[in-house]
Amino acid sequence: MARLDVRCKVDLPVNVILDNNGGKGITEANTKFSSLSLSGGFIDLKPTLGDNKVVGLRYNLPRHGEFEILGEILRSENDGVATRFYNLNRDAKLKLWDYIKENLNDDISCPYCAKENSQKLRKCDRCGWNLNFYSQDYIIEHEKESFVNRLGDKSKLFSLEDMYKVLNYVDVEVLKIGKNFDINEEFVGSSKSILNVFSMIRKVAPTDIPVLITGESGTGKELTAMAVHERSQRKNKPFVPINCAAIPENLLEAELFGHEKGAFTGAYTNKVGKFEYADGGTIFLDEIGELSQSLQSKLLRFLEDKIVEKIGSNSGKKVDVRLIAATNADLKLSISKGLFRKDLFYRLDVFNVALPPVRDRGEDKIILARYFLNKFSKEMNVSKTFSIESVNAVKSYDWPGNVREVINKVRRAVVISMESIIMPSDLDLDVPAMDMESVTSLKEIRYSIEKQKLIEALKHCNNNISKVARVLGISRPSVYSLRKKYNI
Ligand SMILES: Nc1ncnc2c1ncn2[C@@H]1O[C@H](COP(=O)(O)OP(=O)(O)OP(=O)(O)O)[C@@H](O)[C@H]1O
Ligand SMILES: [Mg+2]
Repeated sequence: MARLDVRCKVDLPVNVILDNNGGKGITEANTKFSSLSLSGGFIDLKPTLGDNKVVGLRYNLPRHGEFEILGEILRSENDGVATRFYNLNRDAKLKLWDYIKENLNDDISCPYCAKENSQKLRKCDRCGWNLNFYSQDYIIEHEKESFVNRLGDKSKLFSLEDMYKVLNYVDVEVLKIGKNFDINEEFVGSSKSILNVFSMIRKVAPTDIPVLITGESGTGKELTAMAVHERSQRKNKPFVPINCAAIPENLLEAELFGHEKGAFTGAYTNKVGKFEYADGGTIFLDEIGELSQSLQSKLLRFLEDKIVEKIGSNSGKKVDVRLIAATNADLKLSISKGLFRKDLFYRLDVFNVALPPVRDRGEDKIILARYFLNKFSKEMNVSKTFSIESVNAVKSYDWPGNVREVINKVRRAVVISMESIIMPSDLDLDVPAMDMESVTSLKEIRYSIEKQKLIEALKHCNNNISKVARVLGISRPSVYSLRKKYNI
């Protein structure tokens, strides 16, 4: 029978903590995993156990750091014990998978059923498991498939509805993907335009090319930059954001490139610049359009050779950073006005991710609002929902401040609403936007009612103008002018 998880041979040191005697007989052993999968591992350990089979496992994954997890001993064999891990959290699982993938023997057999030569295929032709290990989505798909397999016979007793609940549980709770395709637990949206953004992030993240993120204020530029970093090989190295508009020009240079002690008045110590600090990771230059001309030239030079020269130093240091820049300004316009260097623009704009404004994201408006409503309700330990009027108001409002405005309005509503149902006024959305069409039709309605009432009153009063004026509560001259207006 095929395994449910890929297993590979490893030689990974592990510190095993065994509780043999209800806390009194704790023993520790430094040994190693000789094989490993996402669900457990084989440990080189003499089986000296009592009844308690729970073990603590501490191991250090190369490049990923130390992990401590709990597991249990399933069985003992002559050369060691087989362990099963208790629920690994998602982060530990993804990192473990990274390690397993690197240790896979990419020559021959299927790591599930051992059929030879299977690994050249995308799916094993004997056990049917997906062998496309290096695809970005492999682990997500695999976790889903193996979860369903583990349910095995039990699932036959489930109704379709139970099955959906389980799958939803896997998506949302286990894999934390839900509608947002695992870009980042916090990245919400399922409109076509935002799915397109997710797909671009997935494509560009594993490469090292610079990314230029554009979009109105509050559309998620920084979040996008983090998502790119998180999905890149650099994710365990620093992500260093700098807002070019928030730091005065003279300080920004020192902030980015660092300075030597005494390089200028006030430079009392050596300072490591952000480019050097981000070595191995990603630097995110927000509001790049605000960079002064002289810093634009310095940045361009840096991008050409990746050498940081501290202020006051005459030697440089090579660093390895990926640059992500963002702007809500129209850089092409700035170029045409001579405010932004064209050559720098082309260096930054190698891959452009354009974030759509919330008003163009259709159903995402309400998806975002509900997401933040749940989030803040949980944080404040209350239970709140939107009224139908609020849902309509959220859908018809344009959200000029984009996601940040959704966050602010929903947070305010959760705080100030007196009842558990949130009304448009709690969201500060109670004044419906007027469009010209409705104004015109209102006018038409008024005219037709006025005319109708005048005709009725004339008929009722046998065209006696004084009586008509009295019935309608207007003056006689007004009756005359209305007759003229409606040609009656
Ligand atoms: N799709 C999304 N799902 C959930 N939260 C989001 C989404 N997009 C943005 N946010 C949140 O909205 C807020 C604003 O996002 P962010 O700071 O990334 O926007 P920005 O485009 O950089 O804004 P600014 O131009 O004002 O700097 C943040 O709290 C961010 O986490
Ligand atoms: Mg920002």
